Amino acid sequence: MKAKNVLIFGCSGQIGRSVVRKLTKNNYTVTAVTRNIHQKGIILKTLGNAGFINIVEANIFDEKKIRELFKRADICINLIGILYEQKKGNTFKNIHTIFPSILSKLSKENNLKHFIHLSALGINEAVDSNYAKSKLEGENEILKNFPLATILRPSVVYSVEDSFSTSFMTLLNRLPLFPIYYNGKTKFAPINCSDLTDTIYHVISNKIYSKIIECVGPEVITFKEILERLLKLIDKKRILLPCPLPLAEVSARIFEIMPKPLLTRDQLRLLKYDNIASGKYKTNSDIGMPSKKYFNEEVKKYCHMWRDGGQFSTEKYTSVSE
Ligand SMILES: NC(=O)c1ccc[n+]([C@@H]2O[C@H](COP(=O)([O-])OP(=O)(O)OC[C@H]3O[C@@H](n4cnc5c(N)ncnc54)[C@H](OP(=O)(O)O)[C@@H]3O)[C@@H](O)[C@H]2O)c1
Repeated sequence: MKAKNVLIFGCSGQIGRSVVRKLTKNNYTVTAVTRNIHQKGIILKTLGNAGFINIVEANIFDEKKIRELFKRADICINLIGILYEQKKGNTFKNIHTIFPSILSKLSKENNLKHFIHLSALGINEAVDSNYAKSKLEGENEILKNFPLATILRPSVVYSVEDSFSTSFMTLLNRLPLFPIYYNGKTKFAPINCSDLTDTIYHVISNKIYSKIIECVGPEVITFKEILERLLKLIDKKRILLPCPLPLAEVSARIFEIMPKPLLTRDQLRLLKYDNIASGKYKTNSDIGMPSKKYFNEEVKKYCHMWRDGGQFSTEKYTSVSE
């Protein structure tokens, strides 16, 4: 029988919203767990037809409440992740290691058909990053507690709802020069959010129990090339200035004081490592889901918001006014 009830943590984020849309369209019902129903409920409600989404507010460490949710679930997906630590419980260890460990134990206890967890690419290599270490420890816990779990390790994920391409376009728009670290040579394989969502859906609907799957886009692009492509797309000329590491560390230390830091020292360490398929694990292509979307073509669909003239700079409008 088809597993129908999917319990999702982190569904208000970029990937979560896309996954909820895909699942509800395909007749799965979703229990969407959020920390703040007043803020996120309005977004979550619109992701599927009435009756397909049940929104629950919960503290992720309220084990009694979370335990109850598992009783009605067939599948669990964990999409909760943070890029920097904050005060109180928002540590890498709590979010990336302890919480996934609890979820995988509950998946086992409740005989769930599947547990899908979003980790990150390159975490074996990035040995000096606390983010990477916590993600790796989380993976180990999961595989120990629920060997049937499938762990997806995406490279950087982009879409109109991301905080990657959109944030860079905002910064490139405003700053006359832009710092690049490690000479901009770090390689990425950006994957479009809808390609990643299709992979997640494929894993669920075809019951794929592969321990680790690396999820990459169709192109390998360096950090500098990504910025150059974005500059071209928003039709701006900016100086991309190689930033010496000591200076980058000082600026990251200052950014860390901000509530939403642009860069942290841990992210700086992570940026040193290429973020591409390692060749040691299966990839999305190996499970029959090669990425179809190319960076430039996809970003072109929304980059006009950062171009002079906004939508009036797009071909649709210029062809009319000419
Ligand atoms: N985006 C990428 O480029 C990328 C690349 C590699 C791996 N990943 C991984 O993929 C997963 C999803 O990424 P995303 O881009 O969709 O993330 P996102 O947009 O930042 O969303 C993160 C989600 O995590 C939840 N969350 C954050 N801190 C929380 C906390 N302290 N307690 C409870 N919930 C918390 C938020 O839910 P509420 O606010 O609703 O509670 C939000 O829905 C993450 O594990 C991330 O590490 C992402």
